[in-house]
Amino acid sequence: MRKKVIAGNWKMNMDLHQSQKLVSEILNGLGRDNKAEIIVCPPFTSLSEVNSLIKSTKIKLGAQNMYYEESGAYTAEISADMLMSVGCEYVILGHSERRVIFDESDDQINKKMKAALAKGLKPIFCVGELLEQRESGETMKVISAQIEKGLEGVTSEQMKNIIIAYEPVWAIGTGKTATPEQAQEVHSFIRELVAKKFLVSVSENLIIQYGGSVKPENAGELLSQKDIDGALVGGACLKADLFLGIIASA
Ligand code: PGA
Repeated sequence: MRKKVIAGNWKMNMDLHQSQKLVSEILNGLGRDNKAEIIVCPPFTSLSEVNSLIKSTKIKLGAQNMYYEESGAYTAEISADMLMSVGCEYVILGHSERRVIFDESDDQINKKMKAALAKGLKPIFCVGELLEQRESGETMKVISAQIEKGLEGVTSEQMKNIIIAYEPVWAIGTGKTATPEQAQEVHSFIRELVAKKFLVSVSENLIIQYGGSVKPENAGELLSQKDIDGALVGGACLKADLFLGIIASA
């Protein structure tokens, strides 16, 4: 049985004070007996303070991006070591906002993937198709190319430390969620791809999250699908009661 993993991607929201307040509210509202693994991914500027608040709790820390070089003259970039020094265990890589708005290529994402894994940071690797790609029947082709390129050179052993997040771009921040059946179809396709590329055992243990307008009202049905092992939540993770509602349905 795979555990459920619920991650909150705060994106470019929450200054330091707001971050402390949000994470305190989440901690206060967490029931003792929830089984899901919980990850929060605040902006870089809040990582250290959020880490102080969640240390020795069951909430884990993730960053939203990183650069693949170790150090040097890369103004404004952040390395894997820097993230780990403030308590990060996870890092989101290849989010569609990075791909679309900041032109991140599969090649750059792959370099980040390998750098994160080499340092022991666990990637939450995002894949997903655009609306026009879905409408022209290219969804599986797009997902398969993103996975092939993003995971090039990654070993089966390293796959144990990767979470894949399927996030159809047309469902992100739009209020349009993929139906549980649409999501399940792609999740099961991803699991088969990983079984072929790596080992069946790797694919069976792989956590595949769904992301795209996940809310307390739709989380239960999505998470009850056979191959949906968690959620990567954007908008609804900025309100403690909504994030807690999603966690409760996991
Ligand atoms: P959303 O974002 O929940 O606001 O759609 C999800 C994401 O981008 O990870």
